[in-house]
Amino acid sequence: MQIRPPRPRRSVLYVPAVNDKALAKIASLDCDAVVVDLEDAVAPAEKATARERLKAFFGGLEKGPREMVIRVNALSSEWGADDLLAARECRPDAILLPKVDNARDILEANDMLDDVDARPSLSLWAMVETPKAVLNIGSIAELGRDRGARLACLVAGTNDLVKETGVRATADRRYLTPWLMQMVLAARAGGLDVLDGVSNVFRDLEAFGRECAEGRDMGFDGKTLIHPAQIEPANRAFSPSDAEIEEALSIRAAFALAENAGKGVISLNGRMVERLHLDQAERLLAKAGQ
Ligand code: COA
Ligand code: MG
Repeated sequence: MQIRPPRPRRSVLYVPAVNDKALAKIASLDCDAVVVDLEDAVAPAEKATARERLKAFFGGLEKGPREMVIRVNALSSEWGADDLLAARECRPDAILLPKVDNARDILEANDMLDDVDARPSLSLWAMVETPKAVLNIGSIAELGRDRGARLACLVAGTNDLVKETGVRATADRRYLTPWLMQMVLAARAGGLDVLDGVSNVFRDLEAFGRECAEGRDMGFDGKTLIHPAQIEPANRAFSPSDAEIEEALSIRAAFALAENAGKGVISLNGRMVERLHLDQAERLLAKAGQ
């Protein structure tokens, strides 16, 4: 089976559009994607300046393999429409919509982009950070099956969810976990990527590594980050481990044996292995670049 290597989104770093020093640092960082932020990291008085800085930054940007995303303000806010137009001019890979409540919010952004002839390959990403978005997650994610809707990725907005629901942000995220799992499930149903929320504590990298591993085990494709120190632990957690690669290679090799050619199920090192496990192994190997 031939599987196209997925676009890695292990580490997705937010950078405030008003922070020139942080913007200048991006080129030297090893994150898979960057979200230049016009929204929560920018104070209301700085919104217009942020838009100008954004354009200047993208104007001088050399196109590389790293995915570049712009987070605009909510379209329902006073800045949203201007942000969306400015973002389109910057030619990013994707625009991240905050405070999405339902599928209509995404279709509205999509219509606005179509109206200004944005190229079809410009994707939309959606923050899942309001109670309504969590309740409507199935119909939001279903847009992933509709090519015309541009939707490519869901992003958990855990800080806003904590704020909006009153749930306590415990270190183990136990009360957020059911909602996060719903996001992963919906994303898979819609054929979308899904990214875990940020960890605000950026000096305790041991705790951060645990949170990354937890997100990986929950099925997320990667984690959103706020600080460069978080990149390496995220890349590590969301890359297949040596043991996983080895196991996948052994499954591939077992099914390649002539004696197993016509079999649907085989026995391998005391374990039942079916062809669905071969699909899983091939997906993991594609991710690992093998
Ligand atoms: N992206 C790129 N570079 C960053 C960065 C980021 N998100 N955060 C920090 N840096 C840079 C700093 O500019 C500094 O650069 P230098 O080595 O050239 O001096 C270096 O990393 C170390 O930064 P540090 O001093 O440890 O942190 P800080 O006090 O400058 O910044 C924050 C701390 C939290 C204010 C900052 O990390 C930040 O703004 N993060 C993003 C917040 C955001 O976007 N929130 C919205 C989404 S939740
Ligand atoms: Mg938010």
